[in-house]
Amino acid sequence: MSDTNATLSGRIALLEATLLEKERTGEALRDSEKRYRRLFESAKDGILILDADTGKVVDVNPFLLHLLGYSYEALYGKHIWELGVFKDIAASKEAFTILQDNEYIRYDDLPLETIVGQPIAVEFVSNVYFVDSSKVIQCNIRDISARKQAEDRQLESYRKIKELNRRLAEMEETEKRTLSAILHDDFGQNLTSLSMSLNLAKLQLNGQTKGNANLRLDDAISLVEKLGDQLHTIISDLRPTVLDNFGIFAALKWYSQQCKLRTGVDVIISGDTFEDRLPLQTEIIIYRIIQEAVSNAIKHAGTSCVELSASKKEMLRFTITDNGKGFDIEKKSDMGGRTGLGLDIMQERAESIEGSLSITSAPGRGTKVILEVPYTI
Ligand SMILES: Nc1ncnc2c1ncn2[C@@H]1O[C@H](COP(=O)(O)OP(=O)(O)O)[C@@H](O)[C@H]1O
Ligand SMILES: [Mg+2]
Repeated sequence: MSDTNATLSGRIALLEATLLEKERTGEALRDSEKRYRRLFESAKDGILILDADTGKVVDVNPFLLHLLGYSYEALYGKHIWELGVFKDIAASKEAFTILQDNEYIRYDDLPLETIVGQPIAVEFVSNVYFVDSSKVIQCNIRDISARKQAEDRQLESYRKIKELNRRLAEMEETEKRTLSAILHDDFGQNLTSLSMSLNLAKLQLNGQTKGNANLRLDDAISLVEKLGDQLHTIISDLRPTVLDNFGIFAALKWYSQQCKLRTGVDVIISGDTFEDRLPLQTEIIIYRIIQEAVSNAIKHAGTSCVELSASKKEMLRFTITDNGKGFDIEKKSDMGGRTGLGLDIMQERAESIEGSLSITSAPGRGTKVILEVPYTI
């Protein structure tokens, strides 16, 4: 082989190698393009690519189209500030410069709207980079509506708990005021009378004043008995010992007797009874709810009879019914427009033991309160 031939075939081999290399590079590029496309098409986050100089949409992935409800054609080639859906990201051409000038922007919670006007919350991250010699902005958009809803629900339950605590504190204050009024008015007055009777008896016994000391002492004895009864009532109202010792049904029986004695209203108990004990705290809450429902019937319904029936199936169910004047549930008041805290607190107390409370009433149609509590708690 001549030298010239050898050089020529060497060059051809070199050319072939270069061509092969180019082909391989091209293939590698095509492979990488394919991989990118696959990622782009199958991503579970929205991706929007903008031309960083013009602000026009140059690509958008199916996930984002699906999320927003737009077609590819509706977004492609449009300026981002023309698209209503992105009004909070690029409300104007000027706002777009923020995206252009910052290599990385992150908004944790942006409100977007789908094509049908449904609000969605998104997390928005933008990156600016070069593709060949042109600058692009890649925006990654993640739907965080479900997370936001869960956060909102949590906030709402914190708010409810705070409100419940405030109301319970308010109710405690009212109870303390009532107790101090009872101590002052009834108990205090009887104590003063007792003291007067004893002082008078002493003066009569010493001969300083005329009169029958025995009669004064009789007064004093009956006042001491009265005071004993009052003290017993106050203690039982604060916390019926029968509830601690014998459980909810015994306490309800005791309460119905107290109602008859104090107000003349019959509280008729019927249905299933059971001896099993629930956790004491649960029993106290059930007792307080029923006590409020019955005392509402006695106070507001204007009836001489209240029915309290109990049933024990999958749930413990207590139904308190009166045929009295009823009230407008929405307004939580009677025709005179009086409102109170009792009904709300009954509701909240029921929820606090995983139970539920339903109240049915209408002016002139009586009232039915149903409390259901899971039996296993
Ligand atoms: N069984 C009932 N019959 C008639 N009205 C009722 C009855 N229960 C509740 N109400 C009405 O609902 C209002 C709110 O009740 P509640 O929240 O317990 O407050 P309160 O008893 O302190 O007035 C009452 O003022 C009353 O007008
Ligand atoms: Mg009440």
